[in-house]
Amino acid sequence: MMSTADQYAVVGNPIEHSKSPEIHRMFAEQTGQKLEYRPLLAPLDGFRSSVEAFREAGGRGLNITVPFKLEAWEFASQRTNRAERAGAVNTLVFYPDGRILGDNTDGVGLIADLTRNHGLVLAGRRILVLGAGGAARGILGPLLDEGPEEIVIANRTAERAEMLAESFSNLGPVSGCGFDALSTREFDLIINATSASLEDSLPPLPGHVLSSDGCCYDLMYADKPTAFVLWGREHGALKSLDGLGMLVEQAAESFKLWRGLRPDTTSVIQALRTS
Ligand SMILES: NC(=O)c1ccc[n+]([C@@H]2O[C@H](COP(=O)([O-])OP(=O)(O)OC[C@H]3O[C@@H](n4cnc5c(N)ncnc54)[C@H](OP(=O)(O)O)[C@@H]3O)[C@@H](O)[C@H]2O)c1
Repeated sequence: MMSTADQYAVVGNPIEHSKSPEIHRMFAEQTGQKLEYRPLLAPLDGFRSSVEAFREAGGRGLNITVPFKLEAWEFASQRTNRAERAGAVNTLVFYPDGRILGDNTDGVGLIADLTRNHGLVLAGRRILVLGAGGAARGILGPLLDEGPEEIVIANRTAERAEMLAESFSNLGPVSGCGFDALSTREFDLIINATSASLEDSLPPLPGHVLSSDGCCYDLMYADKPTAFVLWGREHGALKSLDGLGMLVEQAAESFKLWRGLRPDTTSVIQALRTS
């Protein structure tokens, strides 16, 4: 017999290690929503055809992960303001009238984890963002919305940081530089948005760049503490956190877009930490 549950998926390449199916299964169970959510591997040159096939088979929505967030942005027939600012889409909603809405829930997911789950205040704080790639672009708008004193973007390739800062300068005090320019600076919150943790390495940070009661946050997460989370602990961070909470919070925002209600995230984060 054919399944009558609404169909959702996360599309990426690779995709087998994604935690999103497990997260959405827990959300569905908790809220009593009848839906199925699966991983969808798209060929590197086959994002559009894979997504079209999923939609034509009745799919209701998708999450999008590496390396397809830019293609998803192009694929959407309309986009939210935050997706427009991020230049990338991590959530698609397929409406019965044929419209395809593209949103980006990564940035709000990070803010929810920092402020609701960990009680951090971002207003008036000095924030350092490491990296100037897609993840950094996705979080800058929501971070600036919180009213920090300033945001500095530091990147291996300094020009990318400068260009990224320039494109967000209408939203608040943000500047870009290379890592060498950090030697005389101090920040209350350092967010690692580089992919250095994937290679278990660290951006070259001066030791005193974190203020005495400062916090560290790595967008990446792993079963063991990342190199950056360890760096934070070694340098006296009040909190040194990984990105698992952000992953669950961005998923909750996607779930809300699709189903109209926001699931409880605390129990899901706890379950993933202990699994
Ligand atoms: N928790 C979540 O929900 C979530 C959501 C989105 C992304 N992420 C994570 O965010 C990270 C970045 O993703 P992305 O999409 O932004 O990647 P990306 O677009 O490829 O950008 C990578 C960035 O990392 C820098 N970089 C790479 N290796 C480095 C090294 N060894 N030392 C210093 N800088 C280095 C690059 O610098 P150059 O410009 O000089 O090359 C660039 O700024 C990934 O680890 C991803 O898993 C997490």
